[in-house]
Amino acid sequence: MTKQEIILANEQYLFPGVFHYYRDPLVVTRAKDQFVWDAEGNQYLDFFGGIVTISVGHCNETVNSKVSAQMGKLQHVSTVFANEPQAALAKRIAGITPEGALTKSFFTNSGTEANETAILAARCYTGSYEVVALRHSYHGRSALAMAATGQASWKLGGAPAPGFVHALNAYCYRCPLGLEYPSCGVRCARDMEDLIRTSTSGSIAAFIGEPIQGLGGFITPPKEYFAIVAGIVRKFGGLFISDEVQTGWGRTGRKWFGIEHYGVTPDIMTSAKGMANGAPVGLTVARPEVAGALKGATISTFGGNPVTATAAKAVIDYIDEQKLMINAAETGAYLRDCLEELQRRHPVIGDVRGIGLMQAIELVEDRVSKTPATSAAAALMEAARENRLLIGKGGMYGNVIRISPPLNISRADVDDFASRLEASLTFLSRPAA
Ligand SMILES: Cc1ncc(COP(=O)(O)O)c(C=O)c1O
Repeated sequence: MTKQEIILANEQYLFPGVFHYYRDPLVVTRAKDQFVWDAEGNQYLDFFGGIVTISVGHCNETVNSKVSAQMGKLQHVSTVFANEPQAALAKRIAGITPEGALTKSFFTNSGTEANETAILAARCYTGSYEVVALRHSYHGRSALAMAATGQASWKLGGAPAPGFVHALNAYCYRCPLGLEYPSCGVRCARDMEDLIRTSTSGSIAAFIGEPIQGLGGFITPPKEYFAIVAGIVRKFGGLFISDEVQTGWGRTGRKWFGIEHYGVTPDIMTSAKGMANGAPVGLTVARPEVAGALKGATISTFGGNPVTATAAKAVIDYIDEQKLMINAAETGAYLRDCLEELQRRHPVIGDVRGIGLMQAIELVEDRVSKTPATSAAAALMEAARENRLLIGKGGMYGNVIRISPPLNISRADVDDFASRLEASLTFLSRPAA
């Protein structure tokens, strides 16, 4: 099919809710390592990785050779038959969860399903129904995951499901309480107690939160935030669910999971995306007693699929063997310096935030009013495309640029990225002809 035929077929035969970045959709035909190519043969530096999903480079040969071998051996059996790749993956994960405390896995196909399973398990374990989530969060596209989500634009279909309340998030750049860190005493986290006392029955099933809010625009809470939240949540009987769909598998540097930067051991973690470098997989991993509360039989046709389980274990092994968590920390720090340097030169960059190789810049009309520069963000996306650079967009106001390259990039790649971004920012600030 030609590029135009692909775009036309998308318009004619896909749900209109399927949207694409850019005025003229980018048709991607192939990819390798940190690069992708479009239908016209142009090469792009990919610093977004699908959506925060390419953790070890596109079409990673070490991962793909294991996947190909598995495809020729056993492709599908479902969870009603035992198979080695699922068993080996579950064992590998049990060995790397925080404090080795989460040892029981349930595999599905997506982050949405992973969160469904986590909330179900928490409800079964506690006998309570209510869940506290965060404002600006994103947890998926099923009815329940949309109910957990804290942004109106991602809650489709009318009335949200009952059983969810949304707490203040730690959006320091736009503090919901108008305070400043650290003199605020992290009041947003302490507000959790009032929320539970006033907006729930006082006995909750769980709290669910992303250590860094992904679609929310890489909002990164201060270091004390989750420990305070966890203390309050547990006081009211709730489990702590860490949604690691974007923050898992070393992306934040030196640790396997984002929540480990906050010193909290969750009761349940969920993941997907970068876990299998683009193969569809969802993970819910829990403390054994929590997993055990999900009584009765449950099934997932594609859960623990031998091919995707092989991909996921190959990705985890690769990250470990190639010491990519260290690279994420070191090259992430270098990327952060580059972004802060750009911020000094470009007033449109109001905030730089993130951890490791999960970094964002928030664009503003001016730094005093902090009015979200939504159209500038859209224009920057287009300009970056012209400079053959792929970056992501996010934030409730669509004014945050998300940067999440593969974990095996080098400083030279960051330099290349920075010069392409700088060229795009400069184009943006040029007076109209
Ligand atoms: C933090 C988070 N949780 C859950 C999801 C849902 O994952 P999926 O799209 O695989 O269903 C996403 C997807 O972007 C996400 O970012």
